[in-house]
Amino acid sequence: MTQDILLKSLWDDTIAASLDEPGLLLYRSNLLGSDLRITNFGGGNTSAKVAAKDPLTGADVTVLWVKGSGGDIGSMKLDGFATLYMDKLLTLRGHYRSLDQEDAMVDALGHCIFNLNPRAPSIDTWLHGFVPKPHVDHVHSDAVIAIAAAKDQVRLTQEIFGGEIGYLPWQRPGIDLGIKLGQLAESNPGLVGVVLGSHGLFTWGDTAKASYEQTLRIINKAAVWLDANVKRPVFGGAAVASLAAEDRAAVARRLMPLIRGRISKSEMKAGHFTDAPEVLEFVNSNAMADLAPLGTSCPDHFLRTKIKPLIVPADVDGPGLDVLIEGYRADYAAYYDRCKHPNSPAMRDPNAVIYLVPGVGMISFAKDKSTARISAEFYVNAINVMRGASGVSEYQGLDEQEAFNIEYWLLEEAKLQRMPKPKAMQGRVAFITGGAGGIGSASAERLLREGCNVVLADIDAAALDEVVAGFSKRYGRDMVRGVLMDVTREEQVIAAVESTVAAFGGLDVVVNNAGITSAAAVEDTTLAMWNRTMDILSTGYFLVGREGYRVLKAQGLGGSMVFISSKNGVAASPGASAYCTAKAAEIHLARCMALEGAPMGIRVNVVNPDAVLRGSKIWKGEWSQQRAASNKIAVDELEEHYRKRSLLLRSVFPEDIAEGVYFFASDLSNKSTGNFLNVDAGNAVSFTR
Ligand SMILES: NC(=O)c1ccc[n+]([C@@H]2O[C@H](COP(=O)([O-])OP(=O)(O)OC[C@H]3O[C@@H](n4cnc5c(N)ncnc54)[C@H](O)[C@@H]3O)[C@@H](O)[C@H]2O)c1
Ligand SMILES: [Zn+2]
Repeated sequence: MTQDILLKSLWDDTIAASLDEPGLLLYRSNLLGSDLRITNFGGGNTSAKVAAKDPLTGADVTVLWVKGSGGDIGSMKLDGFATLYMDKLLTLRGHYRSLDQEDAMVDALGHCIFNLNPRAPSIDTWLHGFVPKPHVDHVHSDAVIAIAAAKDQVRLTQEIFGGEIGYLPWQRPGIDLGIKLGQLAESNPGLVGVVLGSHGLFTWGDTAKASYEQTLRIINKAAVWLDANVKRPVFGGAAVASLAAEDRAAVARRLMPLIRGRISKSEMKAGHFTDAPEVLEFVNSNAMADLAPLGTSCPDHFLRTKIKPLIVPADVDGPGLDVLIEGYRADYAAYYDRCKHPNSPAMRDPNAVIYLVPGVGMISFAKDKSTARISAEFYVNAINVMRGASGVSEYQGLDEQEAFNIEYWLLEEAKLQRMPKPKAMQGRVAFITGGAGGIGSASAERLLREGCNVVLADIDAAALDEVVAGFSKRYGRDMVRGVLMDVTREEQVIAAVESTVAAFGGLDVVVNNAGITSAAAVEDTTLAMWNRTMDILSTGYFLVGREGYRVLKAQGLGGSMVFISSKNGVAASPGASAYCTAKAAEIHLARCMALEGAPMGIRVNVVNPDAVLRGSKIWKGEWSQQRAASNKIAVDELEEHYRKRSLLLRSVFPEDIAEGVYFFASDLSNKSTGNFLNVDAGNAVSFTR
């Protein structure tokens, strides 16, 4: 057991030998950030005091390299560090008088910047700069925070670490805490680090390697001690049993759109679900009902997860959920009113981020999928902290006013204001059939560019893998999923829509696009060809449309469906009666669904492409030969033939169809339903009338 919890040094002297001091700092930072047991995502920071030449005067100076504001030590690069003149930084201690000046002192940091480095220094810069050691690490290790969040944190720090680790009570990071930390380190040369109450760990060393290994050693000491001393069963044992895995997933799929529909009115949210063993151990436990309302302890935890989670019974219905969610909002508004200062920023979104479902797991919702996933990871950190603290002492959440002062800190608000404006489709979820094909993948990319989460459903496994891999690389793994599905198979369609809801928490856009072509004169059209064309194009659009519609309706946020029909859905064309008829049926199905969906705000519209040769797989095979033959031209003359046939004399590409899809999928068209849009460079036969 103990062996599993021990962190091992990953330091490689051969790699280190080739690195300069900033390189060593980066190496150590990436190693520390690569393990969530050492620090949470985006949490903690590292520094080194490095000798350098002043770029202007050539004088010898000492420069503090410290992780910049934002960023993550696990994945940061060298440009993620801020650099400051140590001598200027140290003089600021003399200018500082009292706590009310703290925020203003942050501006003064700007005057200490070395070499015009544009990276803003972290608020912990003071703590790093004032510790009189060349290398300093600050991490949010769960094992150490468990001690720092225990009621008798002072005694425990002493008991576990003896005299080698000091202690400072909770205080919001700033110059004041930096001065205290510096003084503690200076007057106690035997210390190798300090536990910050309700916060985390500072450690230091004479070399990069020594600092790194010191940090691991201290965390290991805490983890081993906790493991040996935590009361068992943890969290007072289980109050409820976990449902079977497939039942947990089914409950999550039912609850997520219901929750999402109620909390996304002002800002669309994407969801995440986890039923990891450590989550189930907590949500099922006797202690959960008492511990969860105490809130999280470490500031990083509650900035990501809100001050506390909402507990939701697995069998709650819509009205029951309304009561719970409204109760949470009222509670949050009361917290805001109790704690606000005259100059506090306005109250932010009062909805919970974390939803704990006993027997089932944890659901989280945030402005986008990666934020929702990371928020869940943070709550797992918080669970680990509560497990340790409550197991060896009494767990304490951070004082409510202190929590508020961090959450609504003017510097935090300034950081939020600096964030880029949300993209048009941020937090929304689209399901696209035939997503591995030409028009489907172009439409997916158009939506991804606007911040939409996308699920690509297709029958072609190899093409799907390739398209999903490409998008994951360009837009991030959290944004995109692929699902193998045949639109003619009811059970596969149901499962694919369910997997979309499970992956992102809901659904907003359905693009019915999967397709094939068929061509034959009426008398040569076999029943098999007729049925296959109808199955994929008409019945397939019905099945996907119906399943999507059901989710949109349950969720209650409206939504948009876009059907990719064809010029041939409007204009009959010789030699393709099955295709033309099936495409016409799609258009009429869209109109029927537009009628029924309107009261729920569900819009259904159609885009009609024509002659999109490039990127399209249906133009790769027999279809091209048949079209070329019936026009008495060669296959490679087809594109030019269709261009000349169009009124605008232009070729049509998948990206052009994707613009039509985006128009109907987004709010740009939110007063349109039951419409169709031809994207065909102009064809008089398909004019609307
Ligand atoms: N390309 C054009 O000129 C054109 C013109 C008018 C209409 N359309 C329509 O546009 C849509 C997309 O066509 P495209 O040009 O991108 O073709 P494409 O062949 O590149 O893409 C179609 C995708 O649908 C998938 N698919 C086929 N059968 C499926 C099934 N049973 N279940 C799930 N997926 C299936 C294919 O694997 C393919 O990835 C089709 O509905 C087509 O009828 C295309
Ligand atoms: Zn911290």
